[in-house]
Amino acid sequence: MKKTVLIYSSLTGNTRKVGEAIFEIIDGEKEIYSIEEFNSKMIDNYDRIILGFWVDKGTADSRIRKLIGNIRNKELAFFGTLGAEPSSEHGKKVYNRVKLLCTKHNTLIGGFLCLGKVADKLIERMGKFPLNLIHPLTPERMTRIENASSHPNEVDFKNAKNYFKNIL
Ligand SMILES: Cc1cc2nc3c(=O)[nH]c(=O)nc-3n(C[C@H](O)[C@H](O)[C@H](O)COP(=O)(O)O)c2cc1C
Repeated sequence: MKKTVLIYSSLTGNTRKVGEAIFEIIDGEKEIYSIEEFNSKMIDNYDRIILGFWVDKGTADSRIRKLIGNIRNKELAFFGTLGAEPSSEHGKKVYNRVKLLCTKHNTLIGGFLCLGKVADKLIERMGKFPLNLIHPLTPERMTRIENASSHPNEVDFKNAKNYFKNIL
């Protein structure tokens, strides 16, 4: 039986919650760590590595990207939370960017994205200079933020569990 580790990076808890839901359905020997608790020397203790990230500027957050860069010849799977719809053009770009990182030196068995509410602090910053120039709070953006504000929810947890049940 494969030994699996799930490592998540989460600033405001969205990604941690999805990770904890996925962890429940993993069979066999398993461990879960936050990125702060995990270090690269531990990688070789596992056959299969599940990585959870929050989306930052259109890709996985920097701590998870750094960790991926240190992994070789493992079976990888990822999950991520983001403010945009996973099915949007932005969501698809995120997925493909992370897929590319994961397939460089490893075998990717799957990846799952879901909505995650955007932190109030970030919304506040988007209303002010300089972020208001890059990400102005247009009605469309406000609708997207509002749409994400109740996620991840029970349906997201269920979808995440089902997805991972199928690929593991
Ligand atoms: C600095 C920052 C940058 C972000 N960049 C993006 C982004 O490029 N695309 C996106 O869809 N969401 C973006 N988000 C939203 C987060 O990815 C989303 O809210 C996520 O669920 C946060 O996860 P966490 O609670 O695990 O930290 C950003 C959030 C922050 C704070």
